[in-house]
Amino acid sequence: MSTLITNIGELTTNVAADGDPCGTLRDAAVLIEGSRIAWVGLAADAPDATVPGRERTPGGRENGSHSASHPADVLSRSRQGVQVVDAGGRAVIPGFVDSHTHLVFGGDRADEFEARMAGVPYAAGGIRRTVAATRAASDDELRRRLAGFVSELRAQGTTTFEVKTGYGLTVADETRLARLAAEVTPEVTFLGAHIVPGEYGDRRAEYVELVCGEMLEECAPHSRWIDVFCERGAFTADESRRILAAGITRGLLPRVHGNQLGPGEGVQVAVALGAASVDHCTYLDDDDIAALARSETVATLLPGVEFSTRQPYPDARRLLDAGVTVALASDCNPGSSFTSSMPLMIALAVREMGMTTAEAVWASTAGGARALRRTDVGAVAPGMRADLVLLGAPTRTHLAYRPGVPLIRTVWSNGVAA
Ligand code: NIG
Ligand code: FE
Repeated sequence: MSTLITNIGELTTNVAADGDPCGTLRDAAVLIEGSRIAWVGLAADAPDATVPGRERTPGGRENGSHSASHPADVLSRSRQGVQVVDAGGRAVIPGFVDSHTHLVFGGDRADEFEARMAGVPYAAGGIRRTVAATRAASDDELRRRLAGFVSELRAQGTTTFEVKTGYGLTVADETRLARLAAEVTPEVTFLGAHIVPGEYGDRRAEYVELVCGEMLEECAPHSRWIDVFCERGAFTADESRRILAAGITRGLLPRVHGNQLGPGEGVQVAVALGAASVDHCTYLDDDDIAALARSETVATLLPGVEFSTRQPYPDARRLLDAGVTVALASDCNPGSSFTSSMPLMIALAVREMGMTTAEAVWASTAGGARALRRTDVGAVAPGMRADLVLLGAPTRTHLAYRPGVPLIRTVWSNGVAA
């Protein structure tokens, strides 16, 4: 089955051209064949450009476009095996790549959020409450919750997402979280080093040994990545290096939670080990920025955390101006950022972090793909996976300009429209 999406007013391809990293095309079309993109170009040049019964104007736009608020204005018709979708002059972007989530957990922590809004600061220790609720939940409960979050994020335009373990913290519980995550995504991250669980008291070294040994051994078959929360109150730089090195030896790829709650060594640990990404990056000094700029490590910013914890936002402008690759992700988790909305991340990044809309959309798509070392998603080009989002708006700018408005109109994932 082939689908031609035509009459696209603004297409974000992320194939850099003429100094535009977003590779923006106007009056464009995309041909999907099966699960892949087969062709991208101007609508006027499209392989099956003529929609019957319509007249084409020289600009490539068709006459007779329908009212912007009516769902029927996205026309679908079958013609010679090609389904033609008229985007009605609206914008199309690549599906969002959310490279950082913690979606397998039990319970929630709404009470902590309420307390924070009344002035109580966020603390990493809250993780232990979710660990208790997660251990108490059955596989079926966790699976049902996870499926709910997955449909929630898909409806908001996310077509690729990573999921971390980290709320089990026993060999059996971490393994089942990794297994459940692997049922919904190939991007599974083993985060046994989320926090030292309460039952270990001050026997930290013993827990680190468990993470590097039996827990890693059991989780690795279900995981692609290994992550550590390198932060005061969680794991030290030395512990983080030891755990990440064990994961690398076992064939996992490293990524790091760092510099979230204060200055620290997370960025330096990540860069030294060649991590794909260091996430949060809220408190950075000049050396951290210089190290990132010299490296292949992506700085993944998670503005849902600063929104939900009332912390200062990371300085995205400083990172971008230094030449660091920046990604945006939701960090969806019950403690610090209980939202799976990539459009919200874009709005926050633009309003609060000094990013342009183009930079924020790139960071949520191509940036996320870099953070996950994926070359098949995050851009609209022949051969890429057909993951696309049709917005109910003429330009991507509306994602930041109209915050909180449901602008995700149609999502194609692997060539299939949901
Ligand atoms: O990315 N920073 C560590 N982990 C999560 C928060 C987890 C929680 O509070 O439950 C994060 O923000
Ligand atoms: Fe996180």
